[in-house]
Amino acid sequence: MSVTILAIESSCDETSAAVCVDGKILSNYIANQTIHEKYGGVVPELASRAHMQHIIPVVHSAVKDANIELSSIDAIAFTQAPGLIGSLIVGGQFAKSLALSLNKPLIAVHHMQAHVLANLINDPKPNFPFLCLTVSGGHTQIVLCESPTKMKVIGETIDDAAGEAFDKSAKILGLPYPGGPLIDKYAKEGDPTRFKFPEPKIEGLNFSFSGLKTSILYFLQNAGKSNLYKEEFLASEKEKAEFIKNNMADICASIQNRIVTILLNKLKKAAIETGITDICIAGGVSANSGLRMAFEKTGKENNWNTFIPAFQYCTDNAGMIAITGYYKFLENKFAELSVNSSARAEW
Ligand code: KG4
Ligand code: ZN
Repeated sequence: MSVTILAIESSCDETSAAVCVDGKILSNYIANQTIHEKYGGVVPELASRAHMQHIIPVVHSAVKDANIELSSIDAIAFTQAPGLIGSLIVGGQFAKSLALSLNKPLIAVHHMQAHVLANLINDPKPNFPFLCLTVSGGHTQIVLCESPTKMKVIGETIDDAAGEAFDKSAKILGLPYPGGPLIDKYAKEGDPTRFKFPEPKIEGLNFSFSGLKTSILYFLQNAGKSNLYKEEFLASEKEKAEFIKNNMADICASIQNRIVTILLNKLKKAAIETGITDICIAGGVSANSGLRMAFEKTGKENNWNTFIPAFQYCTDNAGMIAITGYYKFLENKFAELSVNSSARAEW
């Protein structure tokens, strides 16, 4: 029997719908919300309203692109959590209404599990058990995956997420939100070894990024006049702005280099501790070209089999919700219509 899943993602500021048949993604439609740019971050109330506007056309387009009938859908998967509550409710309520009207089962998906399983969308796929470094705007995790539905977080950030580290650094540099892709862009022209930002000393497999943000702040306030991380503001606002303008590429490359080395050093440690050699990355920050390149290089040096989702499955998308829904369907992991978007989702 073939299995057709319609999936909906609305956890933050992307409204997305996808159709997957027997584990193959037939369509993955994403509507971005540009309204947040001028506020320097996602405004939850505006995000919910934009989801309300986008959800029907996005689902319609995904169904049309996949060339299927609504009646051929076997289940509706949606992002239950984590995410912005108003945004989650829009996608969740829409999924429930559709499930009720079509009389189809509902599948509640954990957003972070879905980021990991984006690695099972295209070939070649990792073999279980594998490790996944999931790096997004809200999370930074090393996940040990024993099966599509059996996963354990073995390391995570104790403060900011990697995506936040990119976005907050960009904000300090005066770049618009989301700054991650812009740092990536400038870094391509820069020297990653020019400025040295400190690597936090955190035990075990956990991460910390908040110190990096502070050191960048101090470094810029000194405009290259003093040692890093010293809290002595030697430069005027004008000198600071000029320093940033004249050194943007090298500053971005150095920040990116530090974030990437923090991530990969912990991933290497996790690989050694677990003995696992099938290793993936996932989440919005896995779209970063510096991370992708350094990950492949580290993989070669350590004899890992490395996996990175196709670009469109790295940042938030419903394709990853659909693939997760498919594996949950195979294990009869359905949700009641009374399922609550604000509750902790199960992996
Ligand atoms: O997974 P995602 O789309 O949403 C969350 O679940 O948070 O991740 C969004 C994050 C943002 O912080 C964004 O700046 C970052 O991913 N990001 C990047 C790049 N593309 C997206 N960071 C660095 N370089 C990129 N190319
Ligand atoms: Zn995400």
